[in-house]
Amino acid sequence: MKFTLREVIRHQLRPLPEVSTFAVDLTGKVVIVTGANIGLGFETAKHLASMKPAKLILACRTPETGNKAAADITQATGCSTVVCWQLDLSDPESVKAFADKFEREGGGKLDILIENAAVGLFSWKRAVTGWEQTIATNHLGTAHLALRMLPFLLKAEKPRLVIVASDVHYFVTDPNEADTDGVLQRLNDQKQKGKFYAISNRYQVSKLFNVLYARALSSHLPRGTSLTVNAVNPGLCVSSLLRDLNPVVRIPLRALSRPVARSTEVGSRVFVHAAVATELDGKTGEFLQSCKVDEPSDFVISERGASASRRLWTDTLADLSEFDDQVPVGVNRYLQ
Ligand SMILES: NC(=O)c1ccc[n+]([C@@H]2O[C@H](COP(=O)([O-])OP(=O)(O)OC[C@H]3O[C@@H](n4cnc5c(N)ncnc54)[C@H](OP(=O)(O)O)[C@@H]3O)[C@@H](O)[C@H]2O)c1
Repeated sequence: MKFTLREVIRHQLRPLPEVSTFAVDLTGKVVIVTGANIGLGFETAKHLASMKPAKLILACRTPETGNKAAADITQATGCSTVVCWQLDLSDPESVKAFADKFEREGGGKLDILIENAAVGLFSWKRAVTGWEQTIATNHLGTAHLALRMLPFLLKAEKPRLVIVASDVHYFVTDPNEADTDGVLQRLNDQKQKGKFYAISNRYQVSKLFNVLYARALSSHLPRGTSLTVNAVNPGLCVSSLLRDLNPVVRIPLRALSRPVARSTEVGSRVFVHAAVATELDGKTGEFLQSCKVDEPSDFVISERGASASRRLWTDTLADLSEFDDQVPVGVNRYLQ
């Protein structure tokens, strides 16, 4: 699908259903929301807390802000089963420690995992692993956590994995580059030439990878499983996502977008809908926006897009296996 500026505005102005219209009872269910200390993740967690989950884990980079968010959610909803666990997605050791803690203390199964955490960076930074920070967090960390939590998701009754993407995936410059040999490694080379590799295009590329990865993982799920994996777009929302952008660009951009931007509460309804709405039972490998299944970009549904998705899958597993020997073990044991 082509997503023109007109389409963007049409979506932005579309009223979204109130959470009460699709809410469910989460009694007995275990839920994780990453990056839930602020923004869309916080609002998502707050909505889910009001559905009485057995355990709601806010997976946050900074325990101080995560613990405060947990306390605020408890106060706002009366839900006393909200906890914060530390997780830095850009550090594979932290992802491993999180998964190990879940194995010890999570209660065995995981019903809902919402992978919301991400960075919006427009300058070069490297994670502890040496990977560029946007790819390390938004793609590799997200992919790693999904694979590590798979054994627990597969033990739940109708589990859901929600990977937060974005409509910016429609606007990636030169998307065919995603279907070239060694694309991940090339994105990690600061000297790489070409618009696709520019740091100004990086956030968009990472969100395209979220869509491609969700489709790839969905296609590898074991036959007969009730686990579903979908990518979601909250639409343009007022949040701190662009905090690292130069204020000379950020302030006018925010002012210009404000008339159509959603609040984080409204945007979070898309995530909550993807995680609980019964009308989505059995739907997997989809792209969701405005609380509906929608078509992703023309590139994603093209032959090149399908090839890029397969390539991303293989390359991602190879790269993650360098940091975590449980990745190939889990892929062989749980996926087809
Ligand atoms: N806002 C929008 O218009 C918009 C549009 C489309 C898609 N999205 C997507 O929606 C999601 C939430 O964005 P938002 O707007 O709510 O942004 P936000 O307010 O900046 O929240 C991002 C969250 O991710 C966390 N995070 C960043 N790096 C992390 C890491 N290495 N490990 C663990 N957590 C990390 C942040 O933690 P700290 O507070 O510790 O930094 C924060 O909790 C993102 O995936 C974004 O791409 C947003």
